[in-house]
Amino acid sequence: MPYIRESVDLSVDLLPGHKRGLSLANPVMTASGTFGNGLEYARIFDIQRLGAIVSKAITLKPRRGNVQPRIAETAAGMINSIGLQNIGIEAILRDVAPVWATWRVPVVANIAGESIADYTELAGRLDGTPGVSGIELNVSCPNVESGLEFGVDPRAAAAVTASVRRRTDLPLIVKLTPNVSNIVDIAAAVAGAGADALTIINTFPAMSIDVRRRRPALGWGSGGLSGPALKPIALRLVYLVARSLRIPIIGCGGIMSGEDAVEFMMAGASAVQVGTATFLNPRAPLDVIEGVEEFMRAEGIEDLRQIVGAALAAPESADAGRAPAQYLHPRV
Ligand code: FUM
Repeated sequence: MPYIRESVDLSVDLLPGHKRGLSLANPVMTASGTFGNGLEYARIFDIQRLGAIVSKAITLKPRRGNVQPRIAETAAGMINSIGLQNIGIEAILRDVAPVWATWRVPVVANIAGESIADYTELAGRLDGTPGVSGIELNVSCPNVESGLEFGVDPRAAAAVTASVRRRTDLPLIVKLTPNVSNIVDIAAAVAGAGADALTIINTFPAMSIDVRRRRPALGWGSGGLSGPALKPIALRLVYLVARSLRIPIIGCGGIMSGEDAVEFMMAGASAVQVGTATFLNPRAPLDVIEGVEEFMRAEGIEDLRQIVGAALAAPESADAGRAPAQYLHPRV
């Protein structure tokens, strides 16, 4: 009979060594844009059981978002073009952050701007706000004109990260786009500019056509693909960055189950974000937590650290049947 472990430790010290730190009760966070600002979900289940909540992207001014339709279902996921609809920083500070401050679960504020000055001002306004445990810099939204401007160029990504870093000592996470030829270069640039952690990845630019109307299905034309279709792409990018850099990674992309989350952790992620799954099942993040716990019990694993990076192979491992490094990435 297999050994079933009674007690497992799901806690994650995401930023060891950081002045303020970011301690999670478990590795499962919500992905920005899939959980509102947490308030509605607080009426559906015990959100305090989550590892952390990431807010919808916050901009300086409220935004109405893109023209409808803004969501199209695909064979293995969905495409969204919400266009950063949100209530703006004033309303977040006035109406939402005071509620966050009453929660035990850490809340990370996702911020988006059109210029370095926008991002820096947002960070400054959030700095010192009770209820805000960290900032996720959104340089990877494919659904607005300048959404990817900072995320596809290492120098621009470093410049915005460095400016925000100078403005706040809150934990600073940068959310990367998969829409680059070399994600390791972008990751290295933002790590060098002061990012404490990376979220890998945001949605992939994508499109769907409404054949009856003979037009793109989404009002904005294209959008960002998320869900299970994205998972293998996200996993590979997590793996590449984890193999090249020493910075905590939060894996994101198509996580539907505990085993999906374990895959990301074995690829090098210290924590994960659950997004699209929540549209199918609002309790999905809790199911993922339970799934990770079950996996650990069944495998006799006591501590999550035994899983993180477990699948990272040394480059010489081609002889163990794995793809030689050059097939994973030309420069790894
Ligand atoms: O369109 C949106 O609001 C999506 C944001 C994102 O992908 O970061």
